[in-house]
Amino acid sequence: MAAGELVGIGVGPGDPDLLTVKAVKAIRAADTIMCPASAEDRPSIALSVAAPVMDGSAGQEIVKLVFPMTKDRGALEAAWERNAEAMAAKVAEGRRVAYLTVGDPHLYSTWIYMQRHIRRSHPGMAVSAIPGIVSAFTFAAKVGVSIAEGAEKVAIIPSCYDLSSVEELARRAESLVFLKDGRYFDQVIGLLRRSGFPDDSVFAVGQDLGTDAEVVRRMTLGEAADGRSLATKYFSILVVKRA
Ligand SMILES: C[S@@+](CC[C@H](N)C(=O)[O-])C[C@H]1O[C@@H](n2cnc3c(N)ncnc32)[C@H](O)[C@@H]1O
Repeated sequence: MAAGELVGIGVGPGDPDLLTVKAVKAIRAADTIMCPASAEDRPSIALSVAAPVMDGSAGQEIVKLVFPMTKDRGALEAAWERNAEAMAAKVAEGRRVAYLTVGDPHLYSTWIYMQRHIRRSHPGMAVSAIPGIVSAFTFAAKVGVSIAEGAEKVAIIPSCYDLSSVEELARRAESLVFLKDGRYFDQVIGLLRRSGFPDDSVFAVGQDLGTDAEVVRRMTLGEAADGRSLATKYFSILVVKRA
């Protein structure tokens, strides 16, 4: 990293061993590490993933940026802009700034909005990103399910929003990957069955991957329909694969 540079770093899904070599080098080279949290008194998951590789260099500053857990667009935009400006101010001081984000920076990450704002408001500022391992691919490796093969099509669906398009997507894709909040996964079962997804399709749920609380369950769509609550947390993934 060079002085006066901002790098968005994907730290992967939770296991520090899944940080890339490039991510580790950039984290160690940074003067300022910035990381997201849902409130000032809440831990940053991205920071906890990177912590084991941080060598505690003297003078390395750690700054938590607060993003409220809300769907209110105005509140979100205000947080993206405020936090983007906080990062830009550090870069303008000549610091090497690393912004940590879970998984990959270009999939459902606060990084997307902040780098967009900075590129618009501070043209010429050195901004780049280091990809990270996407949570869904880590999960695929754990449960031994291919995300796609041959001519298959994949849909990635954020579960905490309107799920009304799931039936239509399920008719067109062989694999469906649901992210963003396992508390909605129960609702998906009926939609998939109505779309004609066979009951012997793979239905795999992961929660808190890469942590001590990790849950990994692989069943069929028919087995999932027995009414059990599948996942209880935001940090959950569901992969469904047509039989
Ligand atoms: C805001 S999105 C971030 C996605 C991330 N950028 C990626 O590439 O995986 C957060 C969602 O990612 C998924 N996720 C990320 N890390 C996870 C983990 N360690 N265990 C389970 N789900 C995870 C969950 O679906 C969670 O709701």
